[in-house]
Amino acid sequence: MDVSLSLLIHIALLSSLCFAEDAYVFYDFKLSYITVSPLGVPQQVIAVNGAFPGQVLNATTNDNVAINVHNQLDENLLMSWPGIQMRRNSWQDGVLGTNCPVQPKKNFTYQFQVKDQIGSFFYFPSLNFQRASGGFGPIIINNRNVIRIPFAPPDGDIVILICDWYTQNHTALRTTLDSGGELGMPDGVLINGKGPYRYNTTLVPDGIPYESINVDPGKTYRFRVHNVGISTSLNFRIQGHNLLLVETEGHYTIQQNFSSFDIHMGQSYSFLVTMDQNATTDYYIVASARYVNESVWERVTGVAILHYSNSGGPATGPLPVPPSDIYNQWSAMSQPKSIRQNTSASGARPNPQGSFHYGSINVTDTYVLQSLPPLMIDGKLRSTLNGISFVNPDTPFRLADLHNVKGSYKLDFPNKPLGRTPHMDRSLINATYKGFIEVILQNNDTRMQSFHMDGYAFFVVGMDFGQWTENSRNNYNKWDAISRCTTEVYPGGWTAILVSLDNVGVWNLRVENLDRWYLGQETYMKIMNPEENGDTEMAPPENVIYCGSLQSLQK
Ligand SMILES: *[C@@H]1O[C@H](CO)[C@@H](O)[C@H](O)[C@H]1NC(C)=O
Ligand SMILES: *[C@@H]1O[C@H](CO)[C@@H](O)[C@H](O)[C@H]1NC(C)=O
Ligand SMILES: *[C@@H]1O[C@H](CO)[C@@H](O)[C@H](O)[C@H]1NC(C)=O
Ligand SMILES: *[C@@H]1O[C@H](CO)[C@@H](O)[C@H](O)[C@H]1NC(C)=O
Ligand SMILES: *[C@@H]1O[C@H](CO)[C@@H](O)[C@H](O)[C@H]1NC(C)=O
Ligand SMILES: *[C@@H]1O[C@H](CO)[C@@H](O)[C@H](O)[C@H]1NC(C)=O
Ligand SMILES: *[C@@H]1O[C@H](CO)[C@@H](O)[C@H](O)[C@H]1NC(C)=O
Ligand SMILES: *[C@@H]1O[C@H](CO)[C@@H](O)[C@H](O)[C@H]1NC(C)=O
Ligand SMILES: *[C@@H]1O[C@H](CO)[C@@H](O)[C@H](O)[C@H]1NC(C)=O
Ligand SMILES: *[C@@H]1O[C@H](CO)[C@@H](O)[C@H](O)[C@H]1NC(C)=O
Ligand SMILES: *[C@@H]1O[C@H](CO)[C@@H](O)[C@H](O)[C@H]1NC(C)=O
Repeated sequence: MDVSLSLLIHIALLSSLCFAEDAYVFYDFKLSYITVSPLGVPQQVIAVNGAFPGQVLNATTNDNVAINVHNQLDENLLMSWPGIQMRRNSWQDGVLGTNCPVQPKKNFTYQFQVKDQIGSFFYFPSLNFQRASGGFGPIIINNRNVIRIPFAPPDGDIVILICDWYTQNHTALRTTLDSGGELGMPDGVLINGKGPYRYNTTLVPDGIPYESINVDPGKTYRFRVHNVGISTSLNFRIQGHNLLLVETEGHYTIQQNFSSFDIHMGQSYSFLVTMDQNATTDYYIVASARYVNESVWERVTGVAILHYSNSGGPATGPLPVPPSDIYNQWSAMSQPKSIRQNTSASGARPNPQGSFHYGSINVTDTYVLQSLPPLMIDGKLRSTLNGISFVNPDTPFRLADLHNVKGSYKLDFPNKPLGRTPHMDRSLINATYKGFIEVILQNNDTRMQSFHMDGYAFFVVGMDFGQWTENSRNNYNKWDAISRCTTEVYPGGWTAILVSLDNVGVWNLRVENLDRWYLGQETYMKIMNPEENGDTEMAPPENVIYCGSLQSLQK
């Protein structure tokens, strides 16, 4: 694509922002503790309107969404909506770099538009390790009626939230991390907030409520599966049934069948599943720990039931087996590499997804972001990106800018690992508006990671083991790479993403592994339009909360 065409596309994208009269959807979310026993041990979990997991946040492309969040916990709260791009509006993003926390007994109404978006995402509380106690729920953004989805309308929509789970709550887990400890193996895996079906009387105690999904024979359902957990990659499978992959995080994929699928922390996928079996019994739905020694991690397995209306009886026998390739990671990586976008399908807009020819745009800047295993800094266990362990601000960055609070952050995040002594800092990426950047996520940690970027979707153009070099670019997918917002990065390997920086604001870039994130593995990209031409960021909302050096402005 030449420059003028690329400019035209930008202009087309921007002018479409000015359509008015889009519909509104309203939600009231009350976040509170409730006591449940998903693994047989009573514990306090975070519920949304009394439910664990929380209800669906359901909207259609271009809707304006307003969610009044009430904090009925005993700690500060921020809700985040990862994957929702919040154009020019990082004020609603729900992370400490952009928002002051909502104090206990207070509320805050988030307002944003789901402009030009479709697909499957989830929300969660971003502070204080709270996601380990719940507070999460699914987000569905439906296509507008005028835009055909690239498959026959399914007979039903089924949401599945899978996660590793500890019987200790988030405050106890936090204490472990604060004192330099490791979380260790989780106590189990939950499916929609429930513990495992008793598939084995030795492994699973009696009396645990399990999830049961009711279906009719012959029908095809859209399963939206999200890994909302802390740090365990999960292999998802349904006994006797194929998973036809159709969508991930807002883009339609090339449709392919899988017998099982790896879902990493923070990732979301849609599969079509046809009820084409004879229902002599119910079927197991399994989410089991991946890339660990599975015989040691046997208890870290979630099991739910797929129940046909004409079922002949309960599921029996062993669980369907996971792939046997964990000690051959080269072959395991072929699955994520095969996820590509359907370039001819329409996404949120009528033009085909492939009409943005990302492969012919010149890269303006390259950032190599290296993560290392946690290490001691100033006597504390911390994790780092390019040797910097991020320190959260007392005053959100853009509020600080607008009120001339000086020195609250630096714009000097290095664009490659410098080999300097690891240190704690409030260092942001000074990214260029309208730039087209390449980010190499180099995982020099020993664990599978996933990385997420707020405010954007990016193209996952390459992934491999070993050290990334400039020659690695020769193997990038320049044609139909998937566009998404959360990508896995294999231990000892790298993932390359390309991002078009067309959304002004300050946007969080973080590891999704909750323990590593808590210990500082994140930064922000500051992206500002230097010209006052209407494409600058929105003003802070009327209900903006003040804190830190600006506390006195709070009414
Ligand atoms: C991209 O870079 C190449 C080589 O530097 C140059 O020839 C080409 O004109 C550039 N393309 C665009 C769209 O800027
Ligand atoms: C979390 O667990 C700790 C230790 O078991 C307990 O003291 C605390 O009350 C719990 N907090 C919540 C919010 O459940
Ligand atoms: C979401 O909203 C759409 C359109 O209003 C409706 O058809 C659909 O049933 C809703 N889905 C859920 C899960 O509430
Ligand atoms: C808190 O909720 C009330 C309604 O219950 C609403 O009028 C008010 O705007 C909300 N506060 C914030 C800061 O959004
Ligand atoms: C239950 O699990 C235990 C431990 O893995 C195993 O030894 C036993 O064979 C299993 N029982 C059945 C009935 O599969
Ligand atoms: C996927 O598997 C189903 C059977 O479960 C089959 O009907 C369908 O044709 C397959 N689709 C593709 C694209 O392979
Ligand atoms: C149902 O399917 C199972 C698995 O494919 C097969 O073993 C069984 O014989 C079938 N039963 C009937 C009644 O067709
Ligand atoms: C998994 O752990 C078991 C028990 O510690 C050990 O015997 C086995 O060798 C391990 N498997 C692999 C492949 O490392
Ligand atoms: C791609 O999307 C088109 C709809 O635009 C659909 O007809 C086609 O089957 C899809 N192809 C694949 C391989 O998923
Ligand atoms: C950030 O980058 C812009 C150019 O994109 C430059 O003008 C500015 O001086 C940089 N700011 C800092 C603090 O380096
Ligand atoms: C980390 O990097 C070093 C030096 O590049 C390399 O020798 C080592 O194998 C890497 N370890 C992992 C787990 O990637």
